[in-house]
Amino acid sequence: MSAPYRPAKCFLALILAAAFALAVPAHTQEPGNPPPTFTKDVAPILQKHCQTCHRPGEAAPFSMLTYEDTRPWAAMMKMAVTQKVMPPWFADPHYGHFSNERSLTTSEIRTLVAWVNGGAQKGSDADMPPPQKDFVEGWGIPTPDLVLQLPKPFDVPASGVIDYQYVIVPTGFKEDKWVQMLEVRPTDRAVVHHIIAYLREPGSNYFKNQKPGGFFIAPPARADEKVDTSALPSDFLVGYAPGQPAEILQPGEGKLIKAGSDIVFEVHYTPNGKATKDQTRLGLVFAKTPPAERVLTLSASNGTFKIPPGDPDYKVDASFEVQKDVKLVALHPHMHSRGKSFEYRLTFPDGKTETILSVPVYNWHWQLWYNLSEPISLPRGTKIECTAHFDNSPNNPENPDPTKAVIWGQQSWDEMMVGFFNLKFDANMSAAEVRSPGSVHTH
Ligand code: HEC
Repeated sequence: MSAPYRPAKCFLALILAAAFALAVPAHTQEPGNPPPTFTKDVAPILQKHCQTCHRPGEAAPFSMLTYEDTRPWAAMMKMAVTQKVMPPWFADPHYGHFSNERSLTTSEIRTLVAWVNGGAQKGSDADMPPPQKDFVEGWGIPTPDLVLQLPKPFDVPASGVIDYQYVIVPTGFKEDKWVQMLEVRPTDRAVVHHIIAYLREPGSNYFKNQKPGGFFIAPPARADEKVDTSALPSDFLVGYAPGQPAEILQPGEGKLIKAGSDIVFEVHYTPNGKATKDQTRLGLVFAKTPPAERVLTLSASNGTFKIPPGDPDYKVDASFEVQKDVKLVALHPHMHSRGKSFEYRLTFPDGKTETILSVPVYNWHWQLWYNLSEPISLPRGTKIECTAHFDNSPNNPENPDPTKAVIWGQQSWDEMMVGFFNLKFDANMSAAEVRSPGSVHTH
């Protein structure tokens, strides 16, 4: 469970950390100015900005819950926070305000650096803040009311390429259910590139003839076939990718799972040299009372691009027009290894435009959500416009093959261009009323 998702690099980091730990001078404090201590000054910063990932069972390679766990990493921490590689956050601060922004303030960075320079001391136990109560080991949400899991583990071979695996799991719900917190996650994150849990409502044509049960792969799309939009999933429930947080909605908000719906799990396994098993699971925390507002994840996507070989800055646009008055609450750009930058703009019916998120240096290893501090009202007819740039040149160190033209595809050497977003609207309004008639989420 606690396996880091990129073991080779983390092992290197471990050696480096050990080396640096020795290099930390024991006492470089200025006279009369006692250095910060872990319990009093550092622990509160780690609680606020680091522990969601840096605790047992989560994505980060080491825990920061205690002084003993954290101390060996002190010098690495100083490097990571001064170079701003940790905590991971990629939004240009000139646009938008986000409630889940984890960036450290200048004074927090100064405190961490002074702590390391001052010998990374523990301080008095009495100063230690109480642990964050809402951490449940194995989940990023509170203890789920319901866990739906793949009926059996998937055998991941040591090597090879694996098609996306699909599994249909019935919810068994006899009535409509509202969920306030959701998380889908692997049991072996080392071999899971991403997971999406889709909803299949009764009557949906999505994988129409497919019964709940074992693993299957999607039938290949025929080039001569018109896309049957009614066969696409009506609802993206929740996704997982390294660095992607659990979905925790505000009180009064919920995602709707209709009675009789199935969950369609899509899991992308990426073998990493060692045969293993994974039995991905979905945890749900139900809303205590029926919410006033429904949250729905939709996307603007473009599957028609062809990025020329070697092109360092290829632009792809996508847009989505809302059909009702709704509110926009969160954004989630998605590209693969050639992804270079991503931007979301709104064009309102009166012609006014506004940039709401700019990710100038996209890093596909971090599939982050950007939750807006304040919901933005979108009158009917507003367009959510996304612009992506791709770097298919040899200067992109992540590029698996700059000599190839790249089109949409599922594997990570193919590309994707999806601007996911969460809308929120009156709980009595149907999802179909909100969805743009022409928008197809090719996946
Ligand atoms: C969103 C999850 C997340 C948050 C929040 C986070 N980290 Fe990390 N951290 C990771 C992951 C995952 C790795 C492993 C990185 C890798 O393999 O590239 C990591 C690695 C590190 C490393 C090892 C060096 C490196 O770059 O690989 C340090 C040091 C570190 N984090 C410090 C911090 C500090 C300090 C904070 C808070 C101020 C923090 N992290 C917040 C996920 C997180």
